[in-house]
Amino acid sequence: MTELDTQTRWNEAFRDAVLAGLSPPRKTLPSCWLYDARGCELFNAITRLEDYYPTRAETTILSRHAPDIARFCGEGAALLEYGAGAGIKTELLIDALDAPRLYVPIDIAGDELLCTTQRIGRRFTSLKISPVLADFTGAFHLPDLPRGPRVAFFPGSTIGNLDRREAIAFLTRMRAHVEGGRAIIGVDLKKDRKTLLNAYDDSEGVTAAFNLNLLERINRELDGGFPLDRFEHEARWNEAESAVEMHLVSLDARKIPAAGRSFAFQAGESIHTESSRKYDLDGFAALAEAAGWRLARCWRDPQFAVLGLDAG
Ligand code: AVJ
Repeated sequence: MTELDTQTRWNEAFRDAVLAGLSPPRKTLPSCWLYDARGCELFNAITRLEDYYPTRAETTILSRHAPDIARFCGEGAALLEYGAGAGIKTELLIDALDAPRLYVPIDIAGDELLCTTQRIGRRFTSLKISPVLADFTGAFHLPDLPRGPRVAFFPGSTIGNLDRREAIAFLTRMRAHVEGGRAIIGVDLKKDRKTLLNAYDDSEGVTAAFNLNLLERINRELDGGFPLDRFEHEARWNEAESAVEMHLVSLDARKIPAAGRSFAFQAGESIHTESSRKYDLDGFAALAEAAGWRLARCWRDPQFAVLGLDAG
């Protein structure tokens, strides 16, 4: 398939997602669409914010326990990473692994996937890398994998963006990918509301810009007419779902053109753009078990847990 075909297909998928998400009375957009080139840039800026604790916590845990985590992964492993993004944490893990055979970064953000692949390739010159441009929540083709253990790496608490049904479907597919191997998953833990809400509505306004970029993307790519100064970013705690939600709230009642249609908003009505579920360890262990995994190891601090799962 040519570059252009790929581009066109993503474009159509984005349009379908916007039409499907904005038509029902409760408007939602899947969070994967937050990550265009500008969105990736803004998300990477979020990970460096004082208010956004998860990246800092997870990176500290990974570097502190890297040798133990690497032992859990085994010698000569093929490492599959779901939603690889900038791949900073990946370098920590690869550096600790014993003679890894292959690295397979999987991501929908094409430019960033290329960047990460090149950077990791330059740093680990003997490591083979087979990038896959795909939405990891759906089915996709894996490249040929070498003999030896397979390890799935899913950091960032991105698992929190999936609801229960999606998470079980994803973990089940991931388990099939590793064929009896293991997984390392980053899970953000339930904590006080203030810490959570500050992390998703930071004082520097970067998360707001990240969320609002989705409207800019619709304006840019789908000929949308969202007035950016009349929508506001909001972070909400949903107790029933144990999730921080991001919303884009319309300040006015208005009709907005996008993707060749018109969408009516009431004043105060929102588009729900992301849920970030926060787990406790028992809850996550039960979820993993529902997908056939066993929780084998736990490296954690008060805020965040890196979990070792066993498929066998
Ligand atoms: C990397 C997807 C897990 O949900 O915490 C950060 C994305 N959204 N700030 C998260 C995000 C708002 C992040 N994930």
